[in-house]
Amino acid sequence: MIAHSQNKPKTFFVKILRQDGPGKPSYWQRFELDYESELNVISVLQRIAAKAKTSSGEKTTPVCWDCGCLEEVCGACTMVINGKVRQSCSALVDKLLEDSNEIELRPMTKFPIVRDLFVDRSRMFNSLKKIKGWVPADGYYDLGPGLRQSRANQEMAYPLSECMTCGCCVEACPQYSKIELLPHSGESDEQFEERKLDAYSHGFVGPAAISQVVLFNLHPTGKMMAGERLDALTEEGGIQVCGNAQNCVAVCPKKIPLTMSIGRVGRETTFNTLRKWFDRPANKH
Ligand code: SF4
Ligand code: SF4
Ligand code: FES
Repeated sequence: MIAHSQNKPKTFFVKILRQDGPGKPSYWQRFELDYESELNVISVLQRIAAKAKTSSGEKTTPVCWDCGCLEEVCGACTMVINGKVRQSCSALVDKLLEDSNEIELRPMTKFPIVRDLFVDRSRMFNSLKKIKGWVPADGYYDLGPGLRQSRANQEMAYPLSECMTCGCCVEACPQYSKIELLPHSGESDEQFEERKLDAYSHGFVGPAAISQVVLFNLHPTGKMMAGERLDALTEEGGIQVCGNAQNCVAVCPKKIPLTMSIGRVGRETTFNTLRKWFDRPANKH
């Protein structure tokens, strides 16, 4: 039984779903920590790593996780906390302990596990490459000032630009299935990487990448590649895979209007396909 003073527990428990490496079996471990006010989940994980002992006193390896900015900007620390996918740097322990004296941490389920709570989100970055998620402005000479962007465009683009490729939307999406490959014996790192990227290129790109197509196609210079981005979304794993369940928009921590982006890209890919069909040489006569 946990003793409480002024409604705060003296100690609390953290249950973590662990995995020692890619393809290894997962297992639960429970840790007990002294209560301190104003902790976030990252500081809890730091204390667990320093202690490396379970609640039953058994010595264990430090739990592994990923983080970067510590202010909900990089997306690296995303995990499933008490059943909800979110960033661990902005998950406050006082809030999580309101209903129970135990916090449950699991890795996201749609990405391969690197170790414990650390997942490999490279499929999302690969999707950004597939849709050419950049403005083509590099060069060896002075390109001069960029084209001006209208106020209306800026207002639409800004919320879309807040995407941090965190993975919450794809974790919630029923159409985004996990793709996990393991190295074959004798396969080099380069061969494994190539096989992995090929498998990713057949999977659903997901709502974040679809929304980035809207962002870059709105940009006065970025729109030079609008057709190529829309073509990428009509290939295998493109927008046709979306079943419009709208789970993605409900979990996005940046409140990005993903379903608006999906609707807009759906119409634009249709026009793009029709335009290409009517532009075919056989139809020019
Ligand atoms: S769209 Fe939202 S939930 Fe999806 S990756 Fe971007 S920030 Fe995360
Ligand atoms: S609307 Fe599309 S992308 Fe969003 S959760 Fe549903 S199927 Fe996935
Ligand atoms: S550490 Fe960057 S979002 Fe949490």
